[in-house]
Amino acid sequence: MVTLFEGAFAKLNLTLDVLGKREDGYHDIKSIMQAVSIRDDIEIDIGTGLPWSLSCDKEDVPTDQRNLAWKAAEVFCDATGKDPDGLAIRITKRIPMEAGLAGGSADAAAVLRALNKHYDSPLSILALAELGARVGSDVPFCVLCGTAMAEGRGERLRKLPDMPDCFFVVCKPEFSSSTPELYRQIDESVIGKRPDHQAVESALIAGDLGKIAENLCNVFDPLVTKDHLEINYIKSIYNSYGSVGQQMTGSGSAVFAIVESFEYAAVICNMLKDNYPQVYICKPV
Ligand code: C5P
Repeated sequence: MVTLFEGAFAKLNLTLDVLGKREDGYHDIKSIMQAVSIRDDIEIDIGTGLPWSLSCDKEDVPTDQRNLAWKAAEVFCDATGKDPDGLAIRITKRIPMEAGLAGGSADAAAVLRALNKHYDSPLSILALAELGARVGSDVPFCVLCGTAMAEGRGERLRKLPDMPDCFFVVCKPEFSSSTPELYRQIDESVIGKRPDHQAVESALIAGDLGKIAENLCNVFDPLVTKDHLEINYIKSIYNSYGSVGQQMTGSGSAVFAIVESFEYAAVICNMLKDNYPQVYICKPV
């Protein structure tokens, strides 16, 4: 029996636009995504000789085929014809759930990366990312990590220059929002401000953190904020204590700030931690 170890990294959306509904019921999106150092740990025992199993240190996480990490292992074995002869997945969860941080997708991507490495890379990283699309829309990006433009449902990826050196503060309020419900709402609303992806891409090329921060834009942010004004409260704390830009990630409910130094990040955390136990400092990865 062999045990594999792999990190699963959360994602933030620097930009997120919803372009329209597709025939398959999903929506085409365009988003600049950033991987960050909030991580789950994945361990996989291979060759247990037992039926597959999955465990997690947090309650409320499905521990069967419904878990994206399990699905990822199935999809990998189907696509490559590999038979691990019994597999046990253990997840140590730190990425907040129902937050827009792609925690489940990150776990799935880590399983894909770990199995691919174990079998001497039968798939290139891009082929592995493409395979990830069968598991979930955010999985391809989570396979790739770094900074990337995602289009289609999230499966068409283009690597962008790395985010300039900075810190992120991520705060997950207690409430959670429903992703399908938000997509339904967006179909029925007129989108006001849409992201200028080109401006963010140019700022990434120039390594201009201020311009990246200035052009953060997520079309879900105003929709969620109108029903949950505490998003504005969190942003006002960010803004008062040194953030250069702040926004909700994905369909929420986590809200992030970009800050230039650890000291600013630490002060913000201090200001929020009494009301918000789920507040984190992280870096781009
Ligand atoms: O990808 P995820 O499992 O988070 O998606 C949850 C739901 O959000 C989907 O079942 C779909 O209703 C909606 N969705 C969508 N278009 C996308 C991603 C998600 O309509 N690109």
